[in-house]
Amino acid sequence: MKISIIGAGNVGGMAAERIAAEGLGQISLIDIAPKLAQAKACDMDDSRYILGRRSSVSGGEDIAGIQGSDIVVVTAGLARKPGMTREDLLQKNCSILEGIAAQIQRRAPDAVVIVVTNPLDAMTFFLARKLGFARPRVFGMGITLDASRFANLISKKLSADITAIRACVIGSHGESMVPLPRFTTVNGTSLDRLVGEVDIRELVSGTVNRGKEIVSLYGTGSAYYAPSAAICQLVRAVALDSKETLGVSAFVNGEYGLKDICVGLPCVIGRNGAEKVVELDLNGREKAQLTASADAIKELINLLKL
Ligand code: NAI
Ligand code: 2OP
Repeated sequence: MKISIIGAGNVGGMAAERIAAEGLGQISLIDIAPKLAQAKACDMDDSRYILGRRSSVSGGEDIAGIQGSDIVVVTAGLARKPGMTREDLLQKNCSILEGIAAQIQRRAPDAVVIVVTNPLDAMTFFLARKLGFARPRVFGMGITLDASRFANLISKKLSADITAIRACVIGSHGESMVPLPRFTTVNGTSLDRLVGEVDIRELVSGTVNRGKEIVSLYGTGSAYYAPSAAICQLVRAVALDSKETLGVSAFVNGEYGLKDICVGLPCVIGRNGAEKVVELDLNGREKAQLTASADAIKELINLLKL
């Protein structure tokens, strides 16, 4: 497997380290910042002997390094700064992704492409449209991160073992994300049966605002430990053709009554990408929340120059 990561900043660098640690393939790390990707690749590879790792990481500025990739992860772009929304990033990151799309088309035409750059759902739609690949082959990472944050907050609130929790979040990786208490379980019991409305509201708003909270704690950037773990989980599912159901921003074609949009939904992930959207039996309230979230994504998509 050849796995390329475009953007060797906090998220891309840490994702390379995690993917290398799991031995999922040979990694090519690319960044336009002079020597950054090369420095990180050399540094990571110097740990191979200590860690007994066969996978190696190469790095450079030349995007030709993605040639023939099986998986391309796109983390290139600006990160959120304090006071900035994901949406503020839209125009700047579109122009970065436009150039990257042309290079992926030319050099890695058979790759599965995982978008990470924010605002996630709009950027996934933008790159998918520019690439013109089969729909399943381009998807975005966002709601697995949100689900992991939801699970962490639940674990702390209920003093529950994190491994006993199955968390479910759908919708946008943004302010309108939809954590789903009815589809979130602790030891098999749904969250809405374990805690009351007030606690649920607190857990949901803690999840929605977690990215912002971390941005203000760091002061100079956004989260990357949990995001890189979420990237690695998706790369693993594609590389190993695991067919597990994971939440991704998928290019829908009528599922959940949605079309011409990328939005976070549970999907079967395998070697061909987001192979199937899984339809949850949402109630009226949950459907309305998903529709509102999709509408918020559509507002951003309408600003894109496609
Ligand atoms: P960062 O600033 O540490 O790294 C971004 C890197 O992209 C920089 O090193 C920059 O030189 C590089 N870059 C810019 N243009 C490029 C180009 N044309 N080709 C190659 N490299 C290029 O930012 P960080 O923290 O790594 O975040 C990256 C992106 O991921 C941001 O848009 C951020 O908002 C997003 N993000 C998304 C998450 C999600 O859940 N979807 C979670 C965390 C971050
Ligand atoms: C996050 O949620 C900034 O999207 C990034 O941390």
